[in-house]
Amino acid sequence: MTSPLARRARTALAGCGAIALAFSGALLAAPGAAAAAPAASPAPYPDYAPTPPMGWNDWSYYQCDMDEQTILGNARALVSSGLAADGYDTVTTDDCWMSGSRSSTGDLVPDPVKFPDGMAYVGARLHAMGLKFGIYEDAGTKTCGGYPGSLNHWQQDADLFAKWKVDYVKLDGCNVPTTPGETDEQSYHDTYSAWSRAMLDTGRKMVFSVSAPAYFQGTADWDKVIGWSAQVGNLWREGADIALGQESGPAKWSSLLYNYQYNADLADLQSPGRWNDPDFLLAGDSGLSRDEMQSQMSLWAMMAAPLISSTDLTHLSADARAVLGNKDVIAVDQDRTGLQGRIVQQGADYDVLSKQLAGGERAVALFNRSDSAQTITTTAAAAGFGKGSSFVLKDLVTKKSTVTTGTISADVPPHATVLYRVSAGGGHGTAPATAITWKDVSTAGHPGTYRVELADLGPTGLSDTVLSLAGPDGETFAPKEVRLNRVAPGGSAGATVTVTGPGSAPPGTTVATITATARYRAGAAGADTVSGPLTVTTVVPYPSLASAFDNVGATAESATAPGDFDGDGDSYSADALTQAGAAPGATVTANGATFTWPDAAPGTPDNVSTDGQQIELTGQGGQLAFLGAEAGFTAGDVTVTYTDGTTSTGSLGFPNWCCTDNTTYGAKVAITTDHRDTPSGPANFGTKYQVFTNTVPLTAGKTVAAVTLPEQPAIHVFALALQP
Ligand code: GLA
Repeated sequence: MTSPLARRARTALAGCGAIALAFSGALLAAPGAAAAAPAASPAPYPDYAPTPPMGWNDWSYYQCDMDEQTILGNARALVSSGLAADGYDTVTTDDCWMSGSRSSTGDLVPDPVKFPDGMAYVGARLHAMGLKFGIYEDAGTKTCGGYPGSLNHWQQDADLFAKWKVDYVKLDGCNVPTTPGETDEQSYHDTYSAWSRAMLDTGRKMVFSVSAPAYFQGTADWDKVIGWSAQVGNLWREGADIALGQESGPAKWSSLLYNYQYNADLADLQSPGRWNDPDFLLAGDSGLSRDEMQSQMSLWAMMAAPLISSTDLTHLSADARAVLGNKDVIAVDQDRTGLQGRIVQQGADYDVLSKQLAGGERAVALFNRSDSAQTITTTAAAAGFGKGSSFVLKDLVTKKSTVTTGTISADVPPHATVLYRVSAGGGHGTAPATAITWKDVSTAGHPGTYRVELADLGPTGLSDTVLSLAGPDGETFAPKEVRLNRVAPGGSAGATVTVTGPGSAPPGTTVATITATARYRAGAAGADTVSGPLTVTTVVPYPSLASAFDNVGATAESATAPGDFDGDGDSYSADALTQAGAAPGATVTANGATFTWPDAAPGTPDNVSTDGQQIELTGQGGQLAFLGAEAGFTAGDVTVTYTDGTTSTGSLGFPNWCCTDNTTYGAKVAITTDHRDTPSGPANFGTKYQVFTNTVPLTAGKTVAAVTLPEQPAIHVFALALQP
């Protein structure tokens, strides 16, 4: 199998085009290409997915670098891991399974190299494993990857899929032409309605996944398109693609956070059997922490979202397996009421969601989106329960049950979600719910003095209570252990502790997790414990930009292999940069600012992929200038700290280092070269590779002390300078 790095190198150039296609699909017009389509079938598409679909899809992890072995290998892993038995039963072959053109009779043709045995064979193998067969097509002239689309071939393609015994069709919406005289929305409606009817007319039961709404996200027609998607199909993608497998953990986290947010707001548009689809589950060898994987799984379950894994199941970590296969969490997702959970309480950095379940129970999620632990507190009433004085909370990850008189609270680690199944009444003999809260933590640092409290939320008092502190090597606590003795039902008790960290921390951001644990006895329920984390973040500025390096920006043409500017093993050519005036240590003057190009030999790390690093920089100026480029498409906030302790912020973004419009984010071109270095040597892909300048404003009259770079690893900075 190809390594992820080689795979990325090969798909890197395609990336520019693929992104352009994905975003322009709704706008493309091909006059005369679409024939008048039949009117929508008045009856809704049959209820072929009474619970949210579950399964696996190759796209996020493999993109086009997959074949029959990839699909069937992952299918076998789905079965052997037990995930198929847990409900993940549909294996979908996404884009790039086809040949570049249709047959002489107009049929879609599988790629003969990737799928030498054809697609019916793949389906038969999947069926023999007890799995269902899903396939990808597009409603427009071409798929997002550029393969034949199904426009005007609705019945022919639906019949072919039925003949191949397909069970699930994902119909994308790239390149759907606008019929003259119609709006985009009408043209999409015509096409998807025609497909829906064609699928019905095959007589084969095929779940229909509609991608149309994703092409209308943020437009006035978005809700309307989701509305008719629920008529013509069973589920629909309504927004951005989730991050690809090769993207970094932080990029995946921000992507799933984004998809969660827009999907959470669409609860009104979902009904049982008609599902909002916020895209794939990324649990796997993914760069996400276990808490982050668990959060996605728990939030998707709360939203009754389709659970479609996209990872290499043949190398699934134990953590990812446990997260994906948590039967209690799956049961929340698959609950027969089929209702999407809703946000019932929100703070600056947390959400509480509640989802109604069959039998009067509810699932309640406490989602901590911040980078620090925090105690999130809600009530059974806020979650939708009527009056009552006893509620059993089953934590669906730890499996522990506790009983509360109404308050639901937990100290939740950063990016984690605590998920409870809550039932009213009962709980006799069950341990009381308790929670730790760290107070006064808004500026948590070393040394810091905090109040730690233990709350008893249950009907039983606590006795013999002891609070103890623990942390990584170098952390000391005064006191380390405190006796709290009795805590009355509904009451709390606490202590003040001083946490002192290691003497000195290295430049950069150091995060330490301190844990308070309370041990106690709770009447007949016996001995129990509860723990609560505190996140202590220490930021020590780097003395210079160069000392915050973590990326190889340029390689020599005689040794191109160590480069990794773009995460795909490619970098700028140092030879081409030197020719353009950017030799190591050279002064580069561009667009009114003067910079020093990194004084590093080609092939050594010499540019900063921005990840929130703080850099010392002293002086005054009119604005702060940056020399950089992106291996992505994003902007982020720069924070400038002045000597008087005040701060100002400004937005920083650059165009992609290749292939893009060079004024994005207000940047200006500084350096232009005509090729890049790839691991196998210099390459000219018929485009330019550029470096840009951009600026952020400064507060007049103040002296700069430090600069905090954006938390956007796609943004690379080679130099920064105060500009007059
Ligand atoms: C779009 C979809 C993705 C994937 C690709 C394939 O971007 O949203 O899920 O199917 O197309 O090209």
